[in-house]
Amino acid sequence: MPAFEHHLLVCTGPRCHFRDAPSLRAEFTDALRAAELWQRCIVSETSCLIPCNRGPIVAQYPRGRWFQLPDRAAVRRFVDAVLLRGEEMPDLVVRDIGATARVPRKCGRDRR
Ligand code: FES
Repeated sequence: MPAFEHHLLVCTGPRCHFRDAPSLRAEFTDALRAAELWQRCIVSETSCLIPCNRGPIVAQYPRGRWFQLPDRAAVRRFVDAVLLRGEEMPDLVVRDIGATARVPRKCGRDRR
């Protein structure tokens, strides 16, 4: 399995869907290929992430930041600035919960 650097969760819940999230998902495919980042990123669709009034929402993990990407131009800007050059896009961040690499002590098979 490839070692992905970024996992991008594109919300396709009802409100984000209404705001054209499916075409933004397609734009990610094109933008990541154009930036030659396709092998380093995995893009998944998810249901509602809950800041619905700020949608369309894209969550970036493991960094733990959620972005409002309102249109195709914002997706291109996100790919070029955040993923390719490692820049910030504070104007489009809606939530920053930080890296989430820690696993709860009591979960899965290790539960006692
Ligand atoms: S529908 Fe996307 S955040 Fe709720």
